Amino acid sequence: MADSEIRTIGVVGLGAMGAGIAQLSIEAGYETVGREVTSDLGESARGRIAHFLQRKVDKERMTADDREAALARLSMTTELAELADCDLVIEAIVESLDPKRGLFAELEEIVRPETVLATNTSALSVTEIAAAVGTPQRVVGMHFFNPAPLMPLVEIVRAELSSDEAVEAAYAVGERLGKRPIRCHDTPGFVVNRVLIPLLNDCLRVLDEARLSPEDLDTAMTAGAGWPMGPCTLVDLVGIDVHVHASEALYEKLREPRMAPPPRIVAMKNAGLLGRKSGRGFYVYE
Ligand code: 3HC
Repeated sequence: MADSEIRTIGVVGLGAMGAGIAQLSIEAGYETVGREVTSDLGESARGRIAHFLQRKVDKERMTADDREAALARLSMTTELAELADCDLVIEAIVESLDPKRGLFAELEEIVRPETVLATNTSALSVTEIAAAVGTPQRVVGMHFFNPAPLMPLVEIVRAELSSDEAVEAAYAVGERLGKRPIRCHDTPGFVVNRVLIPLLNDCLRVLDEARLSPEDLDTAMTAGAGWPMGPCTLVDLVGIDVHVHASEALYEKLREPRMAPPPRIVAMKNAGLLGRKSGRGFYVYE
């Protein structure tokens, strides 16, 4: 299916990533159906999207009319069946293989045969997700970066059995969303996380080795290496649970010690210090 034939996009899971993807989708002119498990979660995501679009209006990067038109393109549902008419569905639910495989199997029963099914997984295998459906050729990875509306990259991931049509349709959608898509194969961590996860883990090990404060480590990497934000701020933004999970998934596949999450951050996760979303991680948030 070519991008020109993609008019309606479904987004399943409207946490930080899914809501960001839905925002990009309505801004790019796609009719968008967002699915959450409760209507409260759906409405909360709509509120966040409306807020970020209002900030764009305030800063004169968008007109008020365009904001209204974009929000009118967004419908929310708790029913997966309402994604039946979507030409592309992007999944952004919990980072766990079984729920993702279950969702793809359900989606396959609901959508048309030519609908492209994409996963935003950061560290799981797209091929293993695709193996849950009878038509794995339509499954690809579309890996966005946090915060999705601001980060230009999207990795278009070709699983073992993805068709050229599905890969190219996802690539074209990435372009229309205003992103800089790249094509890659389904290897652990794809491109960026393969490099970034061990790098962040090294940063976190240095915290203890050099007995630094998180503030000083962040200053080191912003002022000394030109990073836009320091590693502690970044891990707090991404979510400490998300980072630990991605590290464990990569360690399991690659068995490289640098991939394994340092004990300090595992302890933070276990204590419920998840970063920005829980109000406390390396830093405290209002
Ligand atoms: N959604 C939508 N809009 C958002 C947003 C979000 N989550 N967060 C911020 N914005 C909007 C806000 O309206 C904000 O303006 P406001 O403060 O006036 O309201 C506007 O964007 C600009 O925000 P900032 O002023 O904070 O923008 P900066 O110029 O400081 O850049 C940044 C922010 C782009 C996040 C930059 O700091 C950066 O590049 N950081 C690195 C992020 C990074 O590396 N991400 C990748 C993480 S790894 C990953 O995602 C992989 C995964 O698999 C784990």
